[in-house]
Amino acid sequence: MMAFAAPCTANLAPSQRARLGCDVRGLAKPSVRAQRRAAAGRVQASAIAAEDVPDMNKRVVMNLLLAGAIGAPVALMAVPYIGFFVPPRPAGTGGGLTAKDALGNDVTQSAWVKSHQPGDHSLVQGLKSDATYLIVKADSTIEKYGLNAVCTHLGCVVPWVGTENKFKCPCHGSQYNNEGKVIRGPAPLSLALAHININDDLVVFSDWKETDFRTGKDPWWA
Ligand code: FES
Repeated sequence: MMAFAAPCTANLAPSQRARLGCDVRGLAKPSVRAQRRAAAGRVQASAIAAEDVPDMNKRVVMNLLLAGAIGAPVALMAVPYIGFFVPPRPAGTGGGLTAKDALGNDVTQSAWVKSHQPGDHSLVQGLKSDATYLIVKADSTIEKYGLNAVCTHLGCVVPWVGTENKFKCPCHGSQYNNEGKVIRGPAPLSLALAHININDDLVVFSDWKETDFRTGKDPWWA
């Protein structure tokens, strides 16, 4: 008949707990073999955990790979996003601005001189959308400079008076000669200049930063 060992319980007498190998709490003490197995397990677990932690070089490489994996797509998305806020430069004009007629169409020299006689001073849309005069020369080409039509007194648009060969401001009487040089106040300065280039027949404005040929002085508008 098989005899079963009495279980360790808290109500056993101390001598009975000692005989059965119970600890002071009345629980069965693990055998020496069990204790050794548990200790070996802990050593193995700590060894595995140490092996799982990559060394510093590996961690640096992994961090770089992670940064690259995140940074590259972010940079690719950021470029067009930032570009959205940068005003586009007109294509094919080398940074200049193509003149626009009253309907907003590009102005070409060939079409302009067909409809405008030599000596003509007519307005187009120029730099910064300012009204700007194109001047047709005697040889039926467009003058190499345009004249900003904004009066330098208080900003009225100055009409061209062909019969008097000059510009006369209707607001306070300032006058400018046929090159836009001020010849009578109260306007203090001449009309601003802009360069004109003909690119593939297009009339293209660009900034005038050189000396004002009418006064020999630095351009006041630059
Ligand atoms: S705005 Fe032209 S003279 Fe005053």
